[in-house]
Amino acid sequence: MSEKKCTWLVTGGSGFIGSNFIKLARANGWANIINVDKLTYAGNPTNLKELEGDEGYTFVRADTTDREAIQKVFDDYSPDAVVNFAAESHVDRSIDSPGEFVHTNVVGTFTMLEEARRYWSSCADKRKGEFRFLHVSTDEVYGSLGFDDEPFKETTAYDPSSPYSASKAASDHFVSSYYRTYGLPTLTTNCSNNYGPYQFPEKLIPLMVLNAVEEKPLPVYGDGKNIRDWLYVDDHCKAIKQVLNAGRIGETYNIGGRCELTNIDLVRTLCAVLDEVKPRTNGDPYSSLITFVKDRPGHDRRYAIDDSKIAQELDWNPQESFTSGLRKTVEWYLDNAEWTEAVQNGTYRDWIAKNYNER
Ligand code: NAD
Ligand code: TYD
Repeated sequence: MSEKKCTWLVTGGSGFIGSNFIKLARANGWANIINVDKLTYAGNPTNLKELEGDEGYTFVRADTTDREAIQKVFDDYSPDAVVNFAAESHVDRSIDSPGEFVHTNVVGTFTMLEEARRYWSSCADKRKGEFRFLHVSTDEVYGSLGFDDEPFKETTAYDPSSPYSASKAASDHFVSSYYRTYGLPTLTTNCSNNYGPYQFPEKLIPLMVLNAVEEKPLPVYGDGKNIRDWLYVDDHCKAIKQVLNAGRIGETYNIGGRCELTNIDLVRTLCAVLDEVKPRTNGDPYSSLITFVKDRPGHDRRYAIDDSKIAQELDWNPQESFTSGLRKTVEWYLDNAEWTEAVQNGTYRDWIAKNYNER
């Protein structure tokens, strides 16, 4: 797709990665944006407050599983591309209530594909040739690696462990089937763990920061030796833009941070950052709040990404170091108490009680 001013239909744009993506897109003039979001507990309009008055940004509250509403969005805005972020995204919630994950992640993606196909089929040849459907997925679809295994490649067989990763795997398969069967110009990205501002504090890094400053235990699952690969959110967003503009249709691109860490090492590093930027009043290190709790069922041991395809084909490399990215992230949570207090509402507290009280 050429880099002319175009319109991207972004789903799930009020969540963590989507809102960072939209802000980067608008700040850098990548495209005009139509953000379609249902505003679940994870979607927060204040994430995009700074775009108020921006004529290149439009918000439509809609559910990606609502066929009529999605049809209307395509017909009203004639997008040049879709970037499909909308999902239920938290593994622990998928263990607690898997049905919602099947509904949004599988049926929602299927509905987006169906409506994209209908719209795309009706486009004139030039527009049809340039249209793209980019599906944002996760490395979790590949399952769990042993410590000595090679990192995930795009050709690694899918082997999901949780209802979350199974639902994302199913959605990825629908996306590739729409390319093979109908020729819909799809792209899929499979990325490792993101971190950065505006991440909902049910996920590891923001949960640990907020618990620490409230002097609450820092709950590390199992033995803490599970390994994740961490990528700063802006680097993920820039990778998505590269794939959208220059990726080969029908292809999958793995995106990673080249930063494998055990959970316990990550939490200890995070505690050390907090010790520097906001020392505890009693003088103790934050690491004394670390508590090992009952493990997550089906907990994948290790994720690691081979990102040589996107690096070689699209010249993408992560820019942010983990040291600077983590510090920026911790400082963002400390400086944005209004945001963190607003999202830690009654529903959030209910979830925290449900997930941690019996561990
Ligand atoms: P998030 O949970 O922060 O945000 C999800 C957004 O989708 C929210 O704004 C929510 O309101 C919206 N949404 C949920 N159901 C919807 C529906 N039916 N219709 C419309 N909108 C709906 O998630 P995130 O961390 O920003 O992740 C975005 C995408 O990136 C997901 O597809 C996820 O699988 C993928 N991903 C996330 C990570 C990560 O580390 N967070 C890593 C790799 C891939
Ligand atoms: P999470 O942020 O939920 O991302 P994902 O499960 O998608 O990788 O968790 C990251 C890692 O941190 C994962 O191995 C589970 C672990 N974890 C904890 O040890 N304690 C916690 O309270 C949470 C939320 C996660």
